[in-house]
Amino acid sequence: MCGIVAYIGSKPARELLLEGLKRLEYRGYDSAGIAVLNGGIKVARSIGRVAGLEEMISIDSGFDGTVGIAHTRWATHGEPSERNAHPHSDNLKNGHGIHLVHNGIIENYVSLKKYLISKGHEFTSDTDTEVLAHLIGELYDGDLETAVQSALREVTGAYAIAVVCEEEPEVLVVARKGSPLIVGVGKDEYVVASDSSAIVAHTTQAFLLDDETVARLTRDSFRTTTVDNVELTPEIKELEFTLEQIELGNFDHFMLKEIYEQPNTLRTCIQGRVDAVGSKIVLGGVADFEAEIVKAKRILMLGQGTALHAAMIGEYLFEKLAGIPTEVEFASEFRYRNPIVEENTVAIAVSQSGETADTLAAVLEAKRRGALTFGAVNVVGSTISRETDAGVYLRVGPEIGVASTKAFIGQVAVLTMLATYIGRRHHLDRDEMSELLSALEQIPDHISTVLGQSDHILEVTKGVVDRDNWLFLGRGTNYPVALEGALKLKEISYIHAEGMPAAEMKHGPIALIDKGMPVVIVATRGSQYEKVIGNMEEVRSRGGHVIAVATEGDTSIVEHCDDVFYVPDVPEPLQPLVTVVPLQLLAYHAAVLRGKDVDKPRNLAKSVTVE
Ligand code: AGP
Ligand code: GLU
Repeated sequence: MCGIVAYIGSKPARELLLEGLKRLEYRGYDSAGIAVLNGGIKVARSIGRVAGLEEMISIDSGFDGTVGIAHTRWATHGEPSERNAHPHSDNLKNGHGIHLVHNGIIENYVSLKKYLISKGHEFTSDTDTEVLAHLIGELYDGDLETAVQSALREVTGAYAIAVVCEEEPEVLVVARKGSPLIVGVGKDEYVVASDSSAIVAHTTQAFLLDDETVARLTRDSFRTTTVDNVELTPEIKELEFTLEQIELGNFDHFMLKEIYEQPNTLRTCIQGRVDAVGSKIVLGGVADFEAEIVKAKRILMLGQGTALHAAMIGEYLFEKLAGIPTEVEFASEFRYRNPIVEENTVAIAVSQSGETADTLAAVLEAKRRGALTFGAVNVVGSTISRETDAGVYLRVGPEIGVASTKAFIGQVAVLTMLATYIGRRHHLDRDEMSELLSALEQIPDHISTVLGQSDHILEVTKGVVDRDNWLFLGRGTNYPVALEGALKLKEISYIHAEGMPAAEMKHGPIALIDKGMPVVIVATRGSQYEKVIGNMEEVRSRGGHVIAVATEGDTSIVEHCDDVFYVPDVPEPLQPLVTVVPLQLLAYHAAVLRGKDVDKPRNLAKSVTVE
């Protein structure tokens, strides 16, 4: 994935584009580039962060125009380098000055490239994107919109593009298929971007482009069409989030800000949906499919990374609370097997971005095989939210930190609500449900209590942060929490960590334990408490340094561990919502202590829109 932003209007494009790129930088950050029309065109590209690009062009008057395109890249084809950075152009001596930024992959770029080389085109990068720029140039006959439409009819793959042409300096053409793109509509100006964070500072009116549609923008008009030139009328809507939500405020990092937002985002997520007194769950996005969802014989959960961990918790919840056989699967594996989708299967895609390529493809595959599809997604209007039959938004606001935190809490909360909703229509007892829901309403306060221990967690982290190998263990719903704790630590501090079911340790990984190896064990009170204590002893007797996540008031736990993070006592099915929080803070502190770039970990991008 990467971030694209484009502008046409009367403001200085350079400043607006650079500011937009900085907001989108979490989406990709190996190189960046910009092109501004100014009589001719001025292009700059640089490896590394947007700040480097900004420095390069800040006093260059060549960038003083009011129409331009910009890109922050996460390379798929061709190493991160200046020559592979976007924008790319058609570059022919007799070319038309086509310049383009692209998010996605042109899958048939090899055959297109061969064809274009046979037509005399010369390429200067290793990217798939450059092929599209040349193809548009090849098909250009005086009208950029027509050339883009014709080129896109030849292309397979995914794209969000913004294109300008030196021969038509008053026109900006954008298009999308499979990668997100939003068109912000201002007064005599348009700001187009991969997500609304680059738009809200300028306008809150916007429309989403549908797949395989093109928009032709001038300062004061727009026209949207399909790639076959059928005219469309998009619906202009108010963007949902505010500037404040995407600013750091007093926090050093978005990840920390988002960890601290969790009490509030969880409140927003469950607000109006949970009625503890009436033992009721109200989910608007489910209403039309209530009958199908309730009679589900099997639930299939699909996701990747953190979303997969939330789905794994969902598996326990659907089985326990709703009594429905549930399987959870890496979306990337599901789509390439021959998955048997029986009648009355509900496939749930869990995703923050709603754009993860594997999750999208897997849920569409499940749909093709007859499943009712459901999205537990955060980003409103994202592809998964649009492609699924039903769904429930997480409502946790924009998540910018690459390491997902508040979206995880939202995902688990949505799955908990859905499991109780279905459960109540089966065997879940009214009082049991009421008790569980009132406990759920208390969770935001409990998360605040855990956040109050951040300093203690920092002190404990200092004692072990120099260790390069860690284990995270848990049982039941806390096993996915162990996986999530390990993932958080790996992705932002680059410490090697493995998460696993506590009992699995004995089947091999115990051989790793040596003196001082940090082993984080979720040991909250619950049905497997004694067994977990046994696992802690096994680690301790081999010299491991045990950090326990335990239930408040469990003073005897200190006899079995070296350090302890306490969490409030909550019913077992809800424990992940509190036990994950100290692990998020632990990973955060470890990354900061190791001097790592918390919000932009190396090699990662916020959402993975390629396979
Ligand atoms: C989480 O910290 C990760 N960066 C990553 O695993 C993420 O959860 C995964 O790529 C899925 O993304 P999605 O929720 O946007 O689909
Ligand atoms: N495929 C393009 C490239 O490698 C765009 C990648 C992206 O979407 O980040 O440059």
